[in-house]
Amino acid sequence: MTIPRNFTLGDRTVDRLGYGAMQLAGPGVFGPPKDRDAALAVLREAIASGVNHIDTSDFYGPHVTNQLIREALSPYAKDLVIVTKIGARRGDKGEWLPAYSAAELTQAVHDNLRNLGRDVMEVVNLRIMFDVHGPAEGSIEAPLTALAELQQQGLVRHIGLSNVTPAQVAQGRGICSIVCVQNQYNLAHRKDDALVDELARDGIAYVPFFPLGGFSPLQSAALSEVAQRLGATPMQVALAWLLRRSPNILLIPGTSSVGHLRENLAAAELDLPAEALQALEGVAA
Ligand SMILES: NC(=O)c1ccc[n+]([C@@H]2O[C@H](COP(=O)([O-])OP(=O)(O)OC[C@H]3O[C@@H](n4cnc5c(N)ncnc54)[C@H](OP(=O)(O)O)[C@@H]3O)[C@@H](O)[C@H]2O)c1
Repeated sequence: MTIPRNFTLGDRTVDRLGYGAMQLAGPGVFGPPKDRDAALAVLREAIASGVNHIDTSDFYGPHVTNQLIREALSPYAKDLVIVTKIGARRGDKGEWLPAYSAAELTQAVHDNLRNLGRDVMEVVNLRIMFDVHGPAEGSIEAPLTALAELQQQGLVRHIGLSNVTPAQVAQGRGICSIVCVQNQYNLAHRKDDALVDELARDGIAYVPFFPLGGFSPLQSAALSEVAQRLGATPMQVALAWLLRRSPNILLIPGTSSVGHLRENLAAAELDLPAEALQALEGVAA
C-alpha cells in the first residue's frame, strides 16, 4: 500500500511526519528544559532529517519552546511551517487557564511572533478551553471572530481549531476558513473517527495530539506483539498506523530525545501488513 508522504496545510505542502515541540519545555511543560543543549539538538536534528512542520505554542514554558525554536532554527528554512496555538495562558504554578478575550488573543499572537522572530504566523490554532482535558460544547464565535480579525490584519495566514467538538468545527467553518483541526487521537483513543473522515473529504488536515499517548505513552499487548513481529518499536507502529488511517492526518509526535526523534521519523518507512492492521483494531476496542 502506497502511503502519501505529503499533505497541504493551508497553501503549503508539508511532510506528514512533523514534530511537536511541547516536550522541550521543563517538567509539566513549565519552565526551562533540564538540558538546553539537548533540546536545541532535537530541533536541529528534526530539520536535518527533513521535518518541515513544527507544532508549538507560546504557552509552552511559557515562551520557552518558541525561544528554543528561534535559537536553534532561525534563520528558518523556506519550507518550514511553524504552527502555533493560542487561547490559553499559564498560571503562577503552571496551571492551564483560558485566555480568550480579543485582547488576550492579540497579545498571544504578538508573543508568538516576537519569540519566534517572525512577521506573520503561518497557521494559528484556536485552542478551546471550555474543558482543558477534552472538547466541550459551547459557542466559539467570539474568540474565532477575534482571531479572524488578526488574520485580516495580516498577522496570521491560516487558522485552525484545537480541542473542539464536531459542532464547533462546523460553527468555525461558517465563520472563517479552517485549515486544520488538532484534537486528541491515537490508536487507543478514536472518538474523532467520523470527524477525521469528514475533514479528509474536505481537504482539511487533522493533526492528532498525543499521537503516542501523551505523557503516558501507549501500552498494549497487541501493539507490542505487532511491533515485535515487524522488528519495529511500539511507538513506530502507533505512528505508522496513524499515517495509514487517513491521508489528511499530519503527525507531530513530541520528544525531548534525539534517539526517539530518529525512531519516530523512521516510522514513515514501516509497512503494516493487513494482519497487523487487523490486530491493531483491537487496541481501541
Ligand atoms: N492542542 C493541544 O491541546 C495539544 C495538547 C498536547 C500536545 N499538543 C501538541 O502535540 C504534540 C505531541 O503531543 P505530546 O508530545 O504531548 O505527546 P506524544 O507525542 O503522544 O508523546 C510524547 C511522549 O512520548 C515519549 N516518546 C516520544 N517518542 C518516543 C519513542 N520513540 N519511544 C518512547 N517514548 C517516546 C516522550 O518522551 P521522551 O521525551 O522521553 O521521548 C513523551 O513522554 C506536542 O508536542 C504538542 O505540540 C497539543
